[in-house]
Amino acid sequence: MRISDIEALHRLFAEVSAEGEFLLRAEPPPIEQMRAMLLRSLPLDLPQFIAEVDGELVGSIEIFPASFCGVEIGSGEDFGVLGMQVKKAHRGQGLGGRLMAAALEHCRRLDMGRVELTVLKSNLPAIRLYERFAFLWLEDLAPVSLPNGRADRPQKMRLLLD
Ligand SMILES: CC(C)(COP(=O)(O)OP(=O)(O)OC[C@H]1O[C@@H](n2cnc3c(N)ncnc32)[C@H](O)[C@@H]1OP(=O)(O)O)[C@@H](O)C(=O)NCCC(=O)NCCS
Repeated sequence: MRISDIEALHRLFAEVSAEGEFLLRAEPPPIEQMRAMLLRSLPLDLPQFIAEVDGELVGSIEIFPASFCGVEIGSGEDFGVLGMQVKKAHRGQGLGGRLMAAALEHCRRLDMGRVELTVLKSNLPAIRLYERFAFLWLEDLAPVSLPNGRADRPQKMRLLLD
């Protein structure tokens, strides 16, 4: 990931959000907010990668420490929070798996103890990918209503790294 990727990254987030099926918001964060986050994260060498096909940015993953994201750390021990997306036309071709492998390898280099994520129960391709990498179900969260109007339920998943 480079700072010059910011426009393409924002387009990717906008496209996936607009599908209205996988994320709770139909719009991406403002580009200036995303740029500010990237300017903070890049110098820290955090696990974040993009997938490019023929020079086009078509996927991304980030695993940011909860402390970096401002997430409350109940257990007292910091952990990684994962987010990822691949453009619709490029899904199911293994890019998600390659992004995940690269990001987890980086987490291990950083001695991150565990990675957590939240995924909708209807999102079977994502859950299949996470289970392939040995993420385990942790808990169900409160039901939600998606931008496309459908009701769903998020679940938390966790991977312990050795
Ligand atoms: C989740 C996501 C990043 C995966 O990326 P991807 O490039 O498609 O990932 P891969 O091709 O490596 O793996 C997808 C897996 O889902 C499987 N799959 C595809 N459609 C499926 C379906 N309808 N039901 C169950 N599994 C399905 C594929 O077979 C593959 O598993 P396999 O490798 O064991 O065969 C991508 O689907 C995506 O961006 N979705 C929208 C955004 C999103 O959901 N982000 C995560 C939010 S928690």
